[in-house]
Amino acid sequence: MRQAKVKTYAKINMVLNCLYKRDDGYHEISSIMQAISLHDNINLKPAGEIILNSNSTLIPLDEKNFAFKAAQLVISKYPSIKGVEIYIDKKIPIEAGLAGGSTNAAGVILGMNKLFNLKMTTSEMIEVAEQIGSDVPFGIIGPTALSTGRGTNVSPIPEAPLLWVVLLKPDFGVSTPKVYSNMKEQMFEKTDNIKGFLGALERKDQDYILGNLVNTLEKSTFALYPKVQEIKDFFIRNTKHSLMAGSGPTVFALFPNEIEAINFKDSIPPDYGKAYLAQTIDSKEIHERVIIDEKE
Ligand code: C5P
Repeated sequence: MRQAKVKTYAKINMVLNCLYKRDDGYHEISSIMQAISLHDNINLKPAGEIILNSNSTLIPLDEKNFAFKAAQLVISKYPSIKGVEIYIDKKIPIEAGLAGGSTNAAGVILGMNKLFNLKMTTSEMIEVAEQIGSDVPFGIIGPTALSTGRGTNVSPIPEAPLLWVVLLKPDFGVSTPKVYSNMKEQMFEKTDNIKGFLGALERKDQDYILGNLVNTLEKSTFALYPKVQEIKDFFIRNTKHSLMAGSGPTVFALFPNEIEAINFKDSIPPDYGKAYLAQTIDSKEIHERVIIDEKE
């Protein structure tokens, strides 16, 4: 049977500026987002209704799951589609700050677009994506993007150079709404750091990129979850360039060199949580992430 196979990549923010609280309750952000090789595999097959399954027992299998919601939205736009069977092979840790649920939703949109020959343009897919969550539109584009507004205005920017990423996911999750609502006026980002970062990406200036990682949400997450601060302190003591991912609790470090990355990963005390090794991905991997398989 015809099926779509989609690699849905995790996301880190190399810059995440939380600027101010908006009247609609969301926070205005400006962010440089980057897709990394850590990914889930999704299989999609035509079906009479929406059926969602996974190897993970930790994710919901109904409309509470962003992937299910994505299928519902695509079907409401194209009612001739009766349903789709979705299987998520989960590798990205959940509630990690790595946009795992969001990238799955984007993968369902991308995969259904090809599976059912819908010919949706990128902006049509982004329009569906932004109805699901703030991080979903990035999953439609990548590998490196500028995102503004509540995170849904995404545009491709020059790709980041190849960097190795060591991630550490503690064995608890954080609540994104809680992290945002704990942001105080004095915590908001006041520096205009986006222009400089974009210039560095254009020049492939690795030193600038590594030296200017920012995540304004760190202060809020650290105040709510001191264990994340402890892990970040460990990273600062042992690596040169580290940051919290999204609203946390995952902390990551970037390395230009694979051996250094592996050595650091191996040095992390196991009681801090689960460590992952990944790398930044490029547009070739983004273009090849959806495959249509006509065979069994
Ligand atoms: O859009 P999403 O469902 O991912 O956002 C989850 C929650 O995170 C929102 O309901 C809001 O409380 C908070 N949020 C925010 N500002 C953003 C993104 C998310 O306040 N830019």
